[in-house]
Amino acid sequence: MSPAWHDSPFLKAARGEATPRVPVWLMRQAGRYLPEYREIRSRGSFLDLCKNPALCAEVMIKTVARLGVDAAILFSDLLLILEPMGLGLDFPTGEGPVLGNPIRTAADVDRLLELQSMESLGFVIEAVRQTRAGLPGHIPLVCFAGAPFTLAAYAVEGGSSRDYRTTKTLMYSDAGAWNAMMGRIVRSVALYLNAQIDAGAQAVQIFDSWVGCLGVDDYRRYVLPHSKALIERIQPGVPVIHFATGNPALVPLISEAGGNVISIDWRLRLDDACRAIRPAQSIQGNLDPTILFAPRDEVCRRVREMLGQVGNRRGYIANLGHGVLPHTPVENVLAMIETVHEWQPNGATP
Ligand code: CP3
Repeated sequence: MSPAWHDSPFLKAARGEATPRVPVWLMRQAGRYLPEYREIRSRGSFLDLCKNPALCAEVMIKTVARLGVDAAILFSDLLLILEPMGLGLDFPTGEGPVLGNPIRTAADVDRLLELQSMESLGFVIEAVRQTRAGLPGHIPLVCFAGAPFTLAAYAVEGGSSRDYRTTKTLMYSDAGAWNAMMGRIVRSVALYLNAQIDAGAQAVQIFDSWVGCLGVDDYRRYVLPHSKALIERIQPGVPVIHFATGNPALVPLISEAGGNVISIDWRLRLDDACRAIRPAQSIQGNLDPTILFAPRDEVCRRVREMLGQVGNRRGYIANLGHGVLPHTPVENVLAMIETVHEWQPNGATP
């Protein structure tokens, strides 16, 4: 008998099968907007939390129960993999993440270490096991990693950046060093994601959060082959969600790079996005996270508008176009989830 999660609306939609209702979950669903998260977080630093598997499991299991979403995402962070690859990692309060020892030049690229085993990230793998063990059987667990470009940009810039100048300078000036770095990242992330799958993930999401700073030609030349190589290394049978944000012109190339599900942001209408991806791929997204700050009626109206744009297309997972923002009213997050669950694909709400 297949496990309870196998026929969940989320996994059916990820496989492009018809679902009795539209599944929904939210990127950054466990975050600072949620009082339950703030309570657990107040006990220590964010990194301490990420390195405590029991607390990571508790955060996500409580969040899923509170929100009634159709999937859980591992509580962890995109940047943890860069520590064993040779970068310092810190989350100073009030600022974004800071990576010490960044890779600034082609000569620095050799300092970026390829992950050889999961020993240094054993706490993540343990968090996957404990989260899977504590979740209800019908709720699939999504695990995740950064896409090669986003991880490279963090490693080179040492944090977030306005123009990604240092990253692009390296990319434009030394293709050999760039490809060597991207290759090392691809093999490391593939090892990491496959280990998360072995530990209990039902799907994986690859976050290309910063790739929107690139134009179409640069994506095709410097990024697409590496993202494609990563996706091809993920063990077959496990849906891959490929997320990118910032530049709707990249969507056809994101789709070409691969993934069973393409996750898009709000800059593109969902009906246009459906036409921009391959027919066999499912789609995820794409409410603007700031809409959740609007009055409740407007939230519900905009969610229905989004659902209407998908029509009867098979393979749709409702989500935001990017993560839930701090200070988002919890009641509006709940209103979004309820509105999706009440939606009938023919357009009528009960
Ligand atoms: O609920 C979930 O989605 C699961 C957990 C999750 C976190 N980060 C927890 C987190 C996931 C999937 C991520 C991914 C992540 N981390 C991304 C990709 C998604 C995206 O937003 O594009 C990126 C770029 C990061 C790197 C990162 N980590 C940033 C930019 C920040 C924000 C810094 C800040 O202070 O605003 C973090 C910190 C972080 N990751 C928090 C959480 C809950 C907040 C930390 C805190 O409690 O202070």
